[in-house]
Amino acid sequence: MKRITAVTVGLLVVCLGLAYCWAQSEGDTPDKATKKEEPKAEYIGAASCKMCHNTTKMGKQYKVWSEGPHAKAFAALASEEALALAKKAGVKGSPQEAAQCLKCHSTAAGLTKAEIPKKMKLENGVECETCHGPGSLHKKMMAKKKGAEGTGLVATTEKTCVGCHNEESPTYKKFEYAKATAAIAHLKPAKAGAEKTGSEAKPKETSGKETTTEKGNGDTEEKSGSCSH
Ligand code: HEC
Ligand code: HEC
Ligand code: HEC
Ligand code: HEC
Repeated sequence: MKRITAVTVGLLVVCLGLAYCWAQSEGDTPDKATKKEEPKAEYIGAASCKMCHNTTKMGKQYKVWSEGPHAKAFAALASEEALALAKKAGVKGSPQEAAQCLKCHSTAAGLTKAEIPKKMKLENGVECETCHGPGSLHKKMMAKKKGAEGTGLVATTEKTCVGCHNEESPTYKKFEYAKATAAIAHLKPAKAGAEKTGSEAKPKETSGKETTTEKGNGDTEEKSGSCSH
């Protein structure tokens, strides 16, 4: 009898141990949000920014953009000047179909088919997200009134601009960041002066152990299985 109890207790201890281990490994990934891969921001297109970024209070970014040079960058490829430049550069056919020109004249041209959202068209030229980064998470968070930080938007710097404003452009003019930024300014009125420093994406909460628990499967089996034999 004693022996049976001892065995039972022993088994119980083992089982508890296993259960503990199991709980531990589960505990490594306590909340589902950090367990899954960080959601990746996707492109949504300038038209999707309009719903929030076109009020006077916000600074009418959409309107300013749509009347500015970048929204017209695709259309600009249809001008006489463009045709002449294209010819000179050895482009066959329309510059509006030439990757060589489009790469700086349209956001969509730089994305893969899968990345291009419905609301983004070649014709929209250089859209918001070329300078600000993909906006899907930002849109979601803002709809829920959370902060803009860590949502995939990127700080816009001179480096962003000179990716296109450089000597590879057949019409290149010396690029002066301060001047050029002023020329396309679309800051929020109330915000002038209250500059923020970039967006510090919060580091992922990573636990010491590297348990990349495969999504779901096996969990329940293990649970019932661990003490059953
Ligand atoms: C659901 C509403 C909503 C949508 C859609 C939205 N935004 Fe915003 N966005 C906001 C709000 C609110 C702020 C905060 C403004 C403030 O500082 O008061 C903001 C701030 C920003 C900022 C400044 C971020 C910072 O750190 O200061 C940028 C840049 C921006 N949005 C770009 C975009 C772009 C580009 C799109 C479209 C791809 C977009 N937004 C779509 C609501 C939205
Ligand atoms: C490296 C990026 C880049 C490439 C490649 C490029 N462009 Fe441009 N393009 C620009 C920039 C930036 C401007 C604004 C003026 C400047 O060059 O500083 C511009 C301006 C223009 C303008 C003047 C638009 C206006 O409203 O005055 C025309 C026309 C033009 N490009 C045609 C072309 C053609 C045709 C090609 C292909 C043969 C081409 N571009 C390739 C970046 C580029
Ligand atoms: C994806 C390429 C691209 C990026 C990135 C880009 N631009 Fe442009 N930009 C263009 C093209 C193309 C034109 C010419 C469009 C036209 O005139 O129709 C242009 C035109 C302009 C113009 C008016 C023409 C001129 O040269 O004076 C200004 C100002 C300007 N950009 C400022 C900026 C600033 C500031 C940044 C960075 C914050 C920037 N751009 C980033 C492609 C780009
Ligand atoms: C050619 C690049 C370029 C494009 C295209 C562009 N922006 Fe910007 N945006 C900038 C720059 C540069 C700033 C100023 C950043 C700074 O001063 O910190 C800015 C600032 C902003 C801000 C912050 C305003 C503030 O007061 O803090 C918002 C919001 C914004 N842009 C939204 C948009 C939206 C929405 C679109 C499209 C409809 C767009 N931008 C298109 C370059 C761009």
